[in-house]
Amino acid sequence: MATDRQRRRSTPVSEPIRAVIDLDLPGARISRHIYGHFAEHLGRCIYGGFYVGEDSEVPNERGIRTDVVEALRDLKIPNLRWPGGCFADDYHWQDGIGPREDRPRMVNSHWGDVVEDNSFGTHEFMDLCEMLGTDAYISGNVGSGSVAEMSEWIEYLTRADDSPMADLRRQNGRDEPWKVPFFGIGNEAWGCGGNLRVEQFASMARQYSTYVRDHAGNEVYRIAAGANTDDLHWTEVLMESFDDLSDGDGRAAPFQALSLHYYTMTGGWQDKGSAREFDVDEWYVALSRALHMEKLLTRHGQVMDRHDPNRRVGLVVDEWGTWWNVEKGTNPGFLYQQNTLRDALVASVHFDAFHHHAHRVVMANIAQTVNVLQAMLLADAETGALVKTPSYHVFEMNTGHHDADALDVHLKGVPTRAADGGELPLVSASASTTGDEALISLTNLDHETTRTVELDLRGRDVIDLSGRVLSADGLAAHNTPEAPERVAPVALEGLRRTERGVEVVLPAHSYATVSLTLA
Ligand code: AHR
Repeated sequence: MATDRQRRRSTPVSEPIRAVIDLDLPGARISRHIYGHFAEHLGRCIYGGFYVGEDSEVPNERGIRTDVVEALRDLKIPNLRWPGGCFADDYHWQDGIGPREDRPRMVNSHWGDVVEDNSFGTHEFMDLCEMLGTDAYISGNVGSGSVAEMSEWIEYLTRADDSPMADLRRQNGRDEPWKVPFFGIGNEAWGCGGNLRVEQFASMARQYSTYVRDHAGNEVYRIAAGANTDDLHWTEVLMESFDDLSDGDGRAAPFQALSLHYYTMTGGWQDKGSAREFDVDEWYVALSRALHMEKLLTRHGQVMDRHDPNRRVGLVVDEWGTWWNVEKGTNPGFLYQQNTLRDALVASVHFDAFHHHAHRVVMANIAQTVNVLQAMLLADAETGALVKTPSYHVFEMNTGHHDADALDVHLKGVPTRAADGGELPLVSASASTTGDEALISLTNLDHETTRTVELDLRGRDVIDLSGRVLSADGLAAHNTPEAPERVAPVALEGLRRTERGVEVVLPAHSYATVSLTLA
């Protein structure tokens, strides 16, 4: 028979953690665009994911898969970045307009070296955005495109009168201009986007941005290709390229934001780690590396603050998420990976970091929405199967943070664990309020220990509360067509009102949200 001591070891519990939140002291607005998405011509993201073609047996509207659109509507996707990624700097938009049978074919040299037929182009993408009710974020070609080509693309998309490009759009069946609020000036210019030095790219970004004009009342927010991970020099030089930022709102500058890319993996680029075969150590390495985002935002933010203390220039993390070795037997160039509970927690701690830095981070885009890297949906065009991943559920649980005001969460007594050469805090948190309501996000990173968090809520009375939790029976639990709900949110039972606020019992390896209605 087990002794008390042994029993305590097999069901670990811990000292309570305190989380102090001043509900009446809202901070920076959390832009809903932090919940943005990314869809590249890569593997089965566009072709076979979003787009199956009009002749497919999978239900579709004008070739776009209807169940994919329906599933994504629940995430209230605020913007969708397209067509790349590395693909964007090989893409010539005029090849993707007009009758499909006349469109030239092209080699997708970055991703599997496959030949594609350009059947999904500008009109199809804008149609998809309209179906999703999302803003378009077009990524323009600096690496192999011309200034004129980029200038004509925005004219084609957004011009209302009888200009040459507006006429061409009409000939291709679209009378009204579209709105394009976001435009990327290149992608990874330090790598696949041209292998440029930042000094050279900074001048090019100014030049290309100048010709991405505001037509017909369409106001474009231009995002220059920014740094890789911790390349602070890249951010420094791009920030130096701005003229006086002390006046106005930054709209007069050639571009309005810089991007940042960072991927989470447990190994290096040659062997990134397995998506679903990992041990406890790798669980913690992955989560430590995800938390590295917090440090990156602080460091790049400090560089930006020195040049731009009034925060006119935005930071856009337009590629983030896990990057694992591809699933066995799949094309290595297609970046198809499974998505487990670990990926979900990688997502939840990223969102905490974005919320903490809402004063500078204006947008972020998960890579990528369907069938590629840390996907929301795994879609099979042959069988018609569609699976929501654990990461999908974190995005859905967080819709209450969209355009809410960040609240500081002061955590006390959070235990840590040695991981990846540092100390990993085992609970992560963030919160926001819309005035009448507040949403609190809590991640328990501990692989085996239940954690109790005492929410010390100040400044407002709570009239109602509820909670949801995402966890599973294993760290590598994931969803499949046979078991689509193995990792899905359920009501959080462990909620209890206390004198100071609310006590939350967080199961081991879980993500929870607590919703409050405020008096
Ligand atoms: O998201 C996959 C690739 O990662 C993108 O094409 C590129 O920008 C980055 O290196």
